[in-house]
Amino acid sequence: MEEKRASKGSGGAIPFLIGFVLSAVFLWIIFPQVIYCQKDQPIRFSHTVHKEQGMECSGCHFFREDGSYAGLPSNEQCAECHTDLMGQDPAEAKYVKEFLEKGRAVPWLIYQYQPDNVYFSHKAHDGFECTDCHPNLGDSDTPPPHYRNVITGYSKQTMKMWQCERCHAEGGVSNACYVCHK
Ligand code: HEC
Ligand code: HEC
Ligand code: HEC
Ligand code: HEC
Ligand code: HEC
Repeated sequence: MEEKRASKGSGGAIPFLIGFVLSAVFLWIIFPQVIYCQKDQPIRFSHTVHKEQGMECSGCHFFREDGSYAGLPSNEQCAECHTDLMGQDPAEAKYVKEFLEKGRAVPWLIYQYQPDNVYFSHKAHDGFECTDCHPNLGDSDTPPPHYRNVITGYSKQTMKMWQCERCHAEGGVSNACYVCHK
């Protein structure tokens, strides 16, 4: 009787330990990879190549007259140069053939899109560096992969609530819920 109990005791601890280690491995290593679906940009657009052409950030990312952010450039803006092939890069040929000539807008992946219930305006944040909130794309030759959370649908790189609130607190800006959640 005593013996049986003792062996049952240790027989329980080891499978428990193995189970614990396996679930830890799952949660810390495998699960994050399962919930994030990795995608590359439809076109490998190089910011540095275009910076070398002397283009300013505001040539493509600018405020409209009503203060809203034009965000992403349209094909018309790219067509100012790309009606003729400008170089040998296959990414350019792909862009011209599959999007520009067909009049299809490029479905760029946005690293920073917020849930619908979050209100954000670039105008209120004019004067900050883009990199205070975004990955440093201005200096990138190849855009980083985009990680979409398959449960929430949002990107992994989306700024978290505490990051917004930290800067607001430092700048003496209100962190009342209704400021950001409309
Ligand atoms: C020729 C047009 C063009 C110019 C000039 C340009 N960009 Fe972009 N930018 C794009 C396009 C197209 C995308 C979307 C594809 C991508 O993310 O690579 C983008 C995306 C971005 C994003 C990503 C937003 C997000 O969260 O997904 C940031 C940040 C950005 N650009 C910053 C800059 C900065 C800083 C500069 C100046 C150094 C700049 N851009 C100049 C065309 C341009
Ligand atoms: C204070 C933080 C912050 C700063 C500074 C900032 N952004 Fe953003 N940006 C965001 C957020 C948040 C979003 C997502 C907005 C949404 O989901 O409605 C975004 C979205 C974008 C997008 C996607 C298209 C769009 O219009 O939503 C682009 C492109 C972009 N930003 C470029 C820039 C560039 C270029 C700069 C610097 C000139 C910049 N941002 C500065 C936070 C910021
Ligand atoms: C002011 C002119 C100009 C504008 C506007 C412009 N480009 Fe370019 N782009 C160039 C030049 C020049 C090259 C070739 C550089 C080389 O290969 O030496 C280039 C190269 C490229 C390439 C291949 C190299 C790379 O990886 O980026 C792609 C893709 C591209 N452009 C896409 C775009 C898109 C999309 C837009 C609009 C958002 C755009 N370009 C707007 C001038 C421009
Ligand atoms: C780098 C600092 C910084 C970060 C990061 C930041 N903010 Fe702000 N935000 C400010 C400042 C400063 C103001 C006040 C601007 C003013 O009053 O002119 C402000 C004001 C606002 C306002 C009120 C302005 C209006 O249009 O009524 C909203 C909403 C807001 N931020 C949302 C956000 C959200 C959402 C995020 C995160 C995605 C964020 N902010 C991240 C600095 C920041
Ligand atoms: C400065 C802007 C800002 C303020 C102020 C703010 N939020 Fe948020 N909130 C966000 C952003 C951005 C997200 C989406 C990103 C995330 O999930 O962290 C978010 C997400 C959430 C979510 C979704 C769950 C989650 O955490 O992902 C809840 C719930 C929420 N906020 C509640 C609140 C409440 C309650 C308050 C007031 C006490 C508040 N928020 C104040 C910016 C803000």
